[in-house]
Formats: sequence, C-alpha cells, structure tokens
Amino acid sequence: MIKTVAVIGAGTMGNGIAHVFAQHGFKVLLVDVNAAQLEKAVATIDKNLSRQVEKNVVTAEQKVLSLNNLSTHTDIADAASKADLIVEAATENIDLKLKIFKQLDEVANPETILASNTSSISITKIASVTKRPEKVIGMHFMNPVPVMKLVEIINGYATDNTITETIVSLSKQLNKVPCVVNDYPGFIANKILMPMINEAIYSLYEGIAGVEAIDTIMKLGMAHPMGPLQLADFIGLDVCLSILNVLYEGFGNTKYAPCPLLVNMVTAGKLGVKSGEGFYIYQAGSKELIVSNRFK
Ligand code: CAA
Repeated sequence: MIKTVAVIGAGTMGNGIAHVFAQHGFKVLLVDVNAAQLEKAVATIDKNLSRQVEKNVVTAEQKVLSLNNLSTHTDIADAASKADLIVEAATENIDLKLKIFKQLDEVANPETILASNTSSISITKIASVTKRPEKVIGMHFMNPVPVMKLVEIINGYATDNTITETIVSLSKQLNKVPCVVNDYPGFIANKILMPMINEAIYSLYEGIAGVEAIDTIMKLGMAHPMGPLQLADFIGLDVCLSILNVLYEGFGNTKYAPCPLLVNMVTAGKLGVKSGEGFYIYQAGSKELIVSNRFK
C-alpha cells in the first residue's frame, strides 16, 4: 500500500507532481540538492493551491491539509529510505538519471517502486542500472501537472504486471487518467506530439506561413488549447530538440530529424518561456503573446 511518496527534483514537473500527491492525501517528501529550489517549489505549490481554492477545485481546508502533507529534504538517501514509491523528476539528462536510479536502488526499501517522469529516456535503460528492474516504471505527467488529466505509464522491458496495476490504480487515486504504453523512443505522447511541433517549425522555416497563422490554424482549426509553436515555447525548445534527437536516433528514421531552425534557436539560447524568448517574447507578469521580432 502506497502512503509515502518521495519526489526527486523540485523543478516545474517535480513541484506539480508533489502538489497532486499531497492534494490527494499522500505524505510527500520533496527532494532537491538545492535548498533554494525547494523553497521556490513550496511557494509555487502554495500559489497553485490558492488558485484552485479560488476556482473551487479544492477547499481552503484541503489546501492546509495538502501543505501539511508536504515536507522538503536535501538528503536523497534519507528521504528515499522512507518512501513506498519514488517518482524521479530530475533534469532530463541520461547520465544524471542513471546515477540517481543506481543510488535510489541502493538506499530504498526492496519493496519500493521506482518511477521516472522522463519524457523520452528509455525506462528499460534506467531499470538496467538497478537490481529491481521489475519494479521500475515510467510515470509521465504532463505540464501543468495539477491541470492535465493524463498520466502516460510506461512499461519497461522487465516491468512486472503487478507494478503496472499498482501505478494504474494509484494514478486513478490522483484523479488522473492512466494510459499504459510500451517502452520505445518517445513512448506515445512525444512520438506523436514532437513530429507535429517539428512540422510546424519546418512550415515557418520554409516560409509557408508566419508564427501567428500557424498557431491560429491549429488552435481554431483543431481545437488545440495552444498552437504548436506556443506549445514548443511552453515545453522548452531545448527539451523539444532533445526529444526529437531521441526519436531520430532511436528509430533511425529521418522523418524525426529536427528542423535546422529549432537547432539554431537552441544554440542561440532562445529556449521559449524559460529564457524569455522563443517564437514569442515573454515578459514577467504579462499574459500577452508577442511574436518575436525575428519572425515579424
Ligand atoms: N496549477 C493549478 N491550476 C492551474 C495551473 C497550475 N499550475 N495552471 C493553470 N491552472 C488552471 C487555471 O486556474 C485555470 O482554471 P479554470 O479552467 O478552472 O479557470 C485553467 O488551469 C486554465 O488556466 P489559465 O486560465 O491560466 O490559462 P489557459 O486557459 O490559457 O490554460 C493551459 C493554460 C492549461 C496551460 C492551456 O493552455 C493548455 O492546456 N495548454 C496545453 C498544455 C499541454 O499541452 N501540456 C502538455 C505539454 S507536453 C508535456 O508536458 C510532456 C512532455 O513530455 C513534453
């Protein structure tokens, strides 16, 4: 029975994952090597819970209970040893993830399930550095985690069925909709999403249409909440590039080759929302979408 969850990494995804577990009654140990990042994460969770109180999604009392379920830690070994489930949401870097999983495997209780929120790194590869590959699984949440209903559950080559069933039922307890897929490059979400984003960037690069036209066509024509270029900025252009490279290398198919414009933008440090500029310009405190001068 899962009661205590350690979340490794207090960035955007980590704080969202900690938020939903705490909101649904789990004890959450939020872990990061950086104490300032933990403080920032708790402030974000507090702010997002207040937003949910205003929208009548949670009551003021539930907000207090959720925050009481949450504690922060810089000692990964200590937190991992207390958890029934560990959800890793560290930076999307394979060497870092392998190092973390090797350590988690050594310090966690043998029964503890090790999950990764990776968006494209092989679960089978992550599991291979542990002595419990049957208890390693992908639990891929979508950003913003408190809002998005999906959890993409990824079975590694060795993942045991009973572990998958546990994670499926746990995701339902979080009021999410779980979908189980097998472990191949990009899983399903990004195997389908990233080629669409890449095609949108190619369309801009080839001069077929401008930023606003491409995004408006997909928003109004296909009822997407954001156009693909805005979504790429939201996800992070560096993340999009790295996932496309995983697809390109993993399938050995040129249809996944990243658009040269995307490569150039990442090289130039234009990463989207997090760097203040991508296809659009982002100003603190403003929700207005302004197309970057480069594309006017
Ligand atoms: N916490 C809690 N609530 C939040 C929130 C957060 N972090 N962010 C937004 N919300 C709530 C708002 O309070 C609002 O609630 P109501 O509907 O009750 O009013 C609702 O979400 C919508 O928010 P906003 O009004 O601020 O803004 P919006 O209507 O423009 O919606 C959005 C914002 C939810 C992000 C929407 O634009 C959207 O769904 N975009 C697409 C997101 C998407 O595709 N995410 C997946 C990215 S891919 C990924 O994550 C995985 C990967 O591997 C790359």
